[in-house]
Amino acid sequence: MYALNKAQARLTELDQDFLRRSLRTTDSPCETSPLVNGQRLKAFCSNDYLGLANHPDLIAALAAGAKRYGAGSGASHLISGHSIAHENLERALATLQAPYIPHAKALFFCTGYLANLSAITALASLENDSAKGSTTIYSGKLNHASLIDGVRLAVAQTKASTVIFDHHDLLDLEHKLKLDSATLKIIVTDGVFSMDGDLAPITELLALAERYDTLLIVDDAHGFGVLGEEGCGILEALDLHSQRLIYIGTLGKAAGISGAFICGESTLIEFILQKARPYIYSTATPPAIAHALLSSLQLITSAEGKQRRQQLYNLIAIWQAEMVFSSWEKMSSNTAIQPIILGENRVALAVAQLLSEAGYWIPAIRPPTVPNGSARLRVTFSASHTVVEVRALISTLQQIELKVLASKEKLHG
Ligand SMILES: Cc1ncc(COP(=O)(O)O)c(C=O)c1O
Repeated sequence: MYALNKAQARLTELDQDFLRRSLRTTDSPCETSPLVNGQRLKAFCSNDYLGLANHPDLIAALAAGAKRYGAGSGASHLISGHSIAHENLERALATLQAPYIPHAKALFFCTGYLANLSAITALASLENDSAKGSTTIYSGKLNHASLIDGVRLAVAQTKASTVIFDHHDLLDLEHKLKLDSATLKIIVTDGVFSMDGDLAPITELLALAERYDTLLIVDDAHGFGVLGEEGCGILEALDLHSQRLIYIGTLGKAAGISGAFICGESTLIEFILQKARPYIYSTATPPAIAHALLSSLQLITSAEGKQRRQQLYNLIAIWQAEMVFSSWEKMSSNTAIQPIILGENRVALAVAQLLSEAGYWIPAIRPPTVPNGSARLRVTFSASHTVVEVRALISTLQQIELKVLASKEKLHG
């Protein structure tokens, strides 16, 4: 069969380029020492930044939600799947962002991927009269795959055109905005870059959005729950206020469960509700999940949530001060995402394997998730890690680096 032969050939290519990915199966909750393929490993790779994924309050809320609402939602939101649990969650999410987005309303989605596809495609469809109007989407070069796919889909579905702007290059972006005669302009960016851990210059991007009458979509998947005194995310942390902001937060990372939301000015959200195909044509998330997410929001904004953020930032500070490599490159990130750039795919895979043998789980991240030649270990911290565990990781990584350097010297000498 042609397709079978082709698939085999393509898989062989992936092997040759050290790009084949493989599943590892856990048989435990998401925690810092999960059981992975039968082995207890210390995990520094999840996005469970506050350590809520296995929190007893959330487990209890999920069980209570299932008891009250049953197992499934039964239909998409606009047919009959929208329950009071979804409604309450959307209200609570909108309340959290209301200080930053006037007249805020929120829409809950099954995943962040679908929320991003929805926000970009729906908003790009605002300009439906191609004789009079046109749309340009400005997309950051290192944006998450789901934003990139949202832009590609919007271009395929509407007459929008795309401009990719370089990472942190505001001059380049302004130059392009200045020359643009499109009637509808949309800037799309990660809040915290998922593979580098740095923050997008949202304050400056918003200033450009104001100057050039542009919408600004911010995907704060890695900031919601973690950034800001109350954990509301990047808008709180930077104290930004605007009706131009379309804020997207995910709920499977710091919030510990699953799902995502788009929050924006109420008319824009109503338009997204009317036009977002992934929302309209997907079965609503089980209401029990929405019910449990309400408890998650309570935890994030509680004194316990604050303590957990404090613990997380304490661990990040220890890493920044004590993790010194002789040749490997650490990136300048102040968030829970702390990448170590290793370059070649082969090297990243070998180091991930050495870590696994030493009892750690930190997978190698390779293209197309990151640019060619920048394969890396993406170390992530959780409030559930201890100082002792972080120091043990630092010492193991330093030993592994020396081992890799010694074997390189042997090879060349
Ligand atoms: C920046 C960013 N946006 C969106 C997503 C997608 O979120 P979800 O996992 O809820 O689909 C991710 C997931 O890893 C992400 O890192």
